[in-house]
Amino acid sequence: MDVFELFPTPIAHIKSVFDDGELNQIKDLALSKANTPNKNSSNLFHSSPADKGAKKLLAITKPKLRQIIIDFGELLLGDVLEWKIKEIWSNVSEKGGRQHVHNHANSFISGIIYISKAHESSRTVFHRQIGHNTFTFTHASETSVVNQFNAELWTIPNAESGDVLLFPSYLYHEVPTNKGTTRISVAFNAIPREIRSHDYSVCLE
Ligand SMILES: [Fe+2]
Repeated sequence: MDVFELFPTPIAHIKSVFDDGELNQIKDLALSKANTPNKNSSNLFHSSPADKGAKKLLAITKPKLRQIIIDFGELLLGDVLEWKIKEIWSNVSEKGGRQHVHNHANSFISGIIYISKAHESSRTVFHRQIGHNTFTFTHASETSVVNQFNAELWTIPNAESGDVLLFPSYLYHEVPTNKGTTRISVAFNAIPREIRSHDYSVCLE
């Protein structure tokens, strides 16, 4: 039997992108700037994506993110394009913190930098589909096996400090309740400067 795995979704896990020196700088920034409590989780705090701290965060991370975003963009859009990180912010989750299911609007590539190792309870979870206006049938039994064609969720197998995860911004994802120690991460959104369709282009700034 030939099986064609049609229309797969790329999620890139790039290991050990940031070294200890960079991680310590980012950690200090995150701990001093992530002061805004999440609306749904009182143990999760975010920094502003639009202040001096965000500019510093961008300056530290951009040199290492630049090429991997271009490479991932080539997978998504089939071409080597110029990309801009339009927002970047830090997230500090104490024990009990969680991030509800969401996706990232007005963006093409989103990413996570794991500043601390994510405890197994709080690894990022992706959802195939969230809600639709029709009946749903699913088969789940003692003998059924979850595979890539029927899975509803996917959890990153591990996330060490310094690792980067890239995914298409439309993908729904969440961070389940953190049962470990303080979890620190940085999130960002990137857009291509221009996308072209033969004789016209859409410019994004
Ligand atoms: Fe997110």
